[in-house]
Amino acid sequence: MQYGYFDDEHREYVITNPKTPVKWINYVGTLAFGGIVDHTGGALICKEDPALNRITKYIPQLPSSEFKGGTLYLRFKQGEGYKAFSPFFVPTLDPYDLYECHVGLGYTRIVSEFYGIRTEVTIFVPLGESREIRDIRITNVSDRPLEIDAIPVIEYTHFDALKQFTNADWVPQTVQSKAYCDEDGLLILTQYAFMNKDTRINYFTSNCPISSFESDRSRFLGDNEYGTWANLLSLQQEELSNYEALRGDNIAALLHRLGVIQSSETTRLITQLGQDESIEKALPSINRYRDSEQVDRAFDELAASWDTYLSRLQVETPDANTNSLLNIHNLRQCHTTMNWSRYLSLYQLGLGARGIGFRDSSQDVMGVLVSAPEGGKELIRKLLQVQKRDGSAMHQFNPLTMVANEGHSREVEGAPRYYSDDHLWIVLAVAAYLKETGDLAFLDEVVPYYEKDKEGQPLESGMVLDHLKRAIEFTWSDVGAHGLPLLGFADWNDTVNLRRGAESLFAANLYGKALLEMMELAQHLGDQESVARYTEYYEAMKQRVNEHAWDGEWYVRYFDADGSPIGSHRDIEGQIYANGQSWPVISGFAPPDRAKAALDAVYRRLNTRNGIKLSTPGYDGFDPAKGGVTTYPPGAKENGGIFLHANPWVIIAETMVGNGDRAFEYYSQINPVAKNDTIEEFECEPYVYPQNILGDEHPQFGLARNSWLTGTASWAYQAATQYILGIRPTYEGLLIDPCIPSKWDGFKVIREYREAIYQIEVKNPDRAFEGVKSVKVDGKGITGNVVPVFGDGKAHQVEIIRV
Ligand code: GLC
Repeated sequence: MQYGYFDDEHREYVITNPKTPVKWINYVGTLAFGGIVDHTGGALICKEDPALNRITKYIPQLPSSEFKGGTLYLRFKQGEGYKAFSPFFVPTLDPYDLYECHVGLGYTRIVSEFYGIRTEVTIFVPLGESREIRDIRITNVSDRPLEIDAIPVIEYTHFDALKQFTNADWVPQTVQSKAYCDEDGLLILTQYAFMNKDTRINYFTSNCPISSFESDRSRFLGDNEYGTWANLLSLQQEELSNYEALRGDNIAALLHRLGVIQSSETTRLITQLGQDESIEKALPSINRYRDSEQVDRAFDELAASWDTYLSRLQVETPDANTNSLLNIHNLRQCHTTMNWSRYLSLYQLGLGARGIGFRDSSQDVMGVLVSAPEGGKELIRKLLQVQKRDGSAMHQFNPLTMVANEGHSREVEGAPRYYSDDHLWIVLAVAAYLKETGDLAFLDEVVPYYEKDKEGQPLESGMVLDHLKRAIEFTWSDVGAHGLPLLGFADWNDTVNLRRGAESLFAANLYGKALLEMMELAQHLGDQESVARYTEYYEAMKQRVNEHAWDGEWYVRYFDADGSPIGSHRDIEGQIYANGQSWPVISGFAPPDRAKAALDAVYRRLNTRNGIKLSTPGYDGFDPAKGGVTTYPPGAKENGGIFLHANPWVIIAETMVGNGDRAFEYYSQINPVAKNDTIEEFECEPYVYPQNILGDEHPQFGLARNSWLTGTASWAYQAATQYILGIRPTYEGLLIDPCIPSKWDGFKVIREYREAIYQIEVKNPDRAFEGVKSVKVDGKGITGNVVPVFGDGKAHQVEIIRV
């Protein structure tokens, strides 16, 4: 069973059956303005913050057949009344002759045929604009003339998205709609919360005259809302009621009489859903986008910006699924996670104070540094602003207000209010940014720490380098009985919440990696005192990890507050954790024999055909002493599920011990592109990584959920490009150190790096995993495998022959 296919030439996935197992979505625009468009045309749109400035009402928990956020109706005369249907299939569910949803880069195009009417709707947000465009082309594919009316409609939410669901008195009393009509019959229907009417309005408009409109949901559905979205009573009337709602459930519906469309003739209609400070302010741009040529131009500009974004790193490997993923889909997902963090998807609902995650975004940044370094830097700056003076970090923040909070830890009385890992990720992100760009001046930028005085002014600021140093010092002094970092409320694994005093081996190893970065940076800056200091920290932590945490065949994952290990062969449940093994390799703490044993244990105990489980066996019953992990049944999410984010870390670790075959086996088994053929098991979009897949202890082994917003995107991209293909930026140049499957005879990569283009060809005539025999740059041999920085805007040929 398949629901669609990959069209790599057009860089699209094409859904051909609208009844996908769950909604499959795409993202349009950015966090600045944009949101989700599902494959049946529903849309969740917001500006700058989905919690605090949401525009459309999209309730993901409603059945897939329901109206969500907006749709388009078409109607034609039938008998005494009208036949009305949606060319998006939902919510009228009419039988279709053709249905295609083209999931493109920054746009979705829905093409359908119903009743001799072909509709093609391209949905996108022009670059830098606060409007969603729907470019609608309606073609008569029947052999007779058809008189067609088009009624695009959207449903608004209150801007405070959570209030919409918690207060059904205040919300409907505060929202209003007002119509502005010009002489040509063009209408702008505005909508606002009363308190914002002079500062922030939503609007919906089109480029064709309307004959009537509706702004009140009850009137639109009809019969006191016993008319339904699937069977609209108002569309049986000649006209809508032209009612400007003064309260209630606001919608915007515009009835266009397109007139008679001859056979084979096409009519074009363009709608805009936007937000601005006022109608006067919005008018010039509204008029601009009423011009179809401007819309075409905006679409071309969007396509060009994606061309640029993708072109910075393109690969050609012997594996087609890898190429498709790395050249298109994984890059798009990295763009998405950088924008939306874990804030807004069909699973992360963007309500309340969830906001941008500190650890999440720090990792997301690392997935876009080649393709969008400026955007990455911008995000790093924001993250540093919610780091605290003691070096630890706030867990998440609202992007609109920059107000931060301590995440779930607030919900557990008496629990530590920090996470042991958050602040360490930013060290990795900044180091990766510097190595990619060489922008060392960034280290001197002054950024405030989070704490504020009564007037809301920062109490202290520091240079970026100072922020990193404080992060390191925080963990150095925040250790428990074994000298290992205290767990805080949790580490990367949010769900293991142990009593105060517990220690985290993950944090210890992440600390090791952060220290390696700081040692290298200090070395590069010529700061020998810091090199010495961080080397001392590193060696001390390495010694503690190896003295206390080796369990015989693998490393344990935590020490509980009473000093007992978790993730040991002595445990009945949760005996071995994947992160417990990959990270001692990444940190360089594990000596070679332990690294190999630990990774072999992962292969033996945790690997499945659908990916590596986070731990095993699952905890079978709720245990408040362990926390959230035991709220899931065995095999789900962090409790023995395949938590994909952790898979690339094992892949990276395998390349570090030189095991290219196993690294690629792990990489391939989670490649979503390959899931297109087993979609009835997988269920989610095959063009993005999901966060989790049910593990083999669960009866629905292989079922994916929480697609799109996952750190898997960034880490899988890094694992593939920097560790399997092995092209890693360093302070001195581009290191080329592949660890590929032995069956590959080579690969090619075109990559931009510090204002030059590196055309890299790796030849592997002897089918080796790793090791480099010779490196030629522009035809001349060089010593070592670090290709220098050119910065000359030119293309350079790099040829690598492997051992
Ligand atoms: C979710 C969270 C992330 C966390 C992971 C593991 O993906 O967004 O921050 O590290 O779960 O618990």
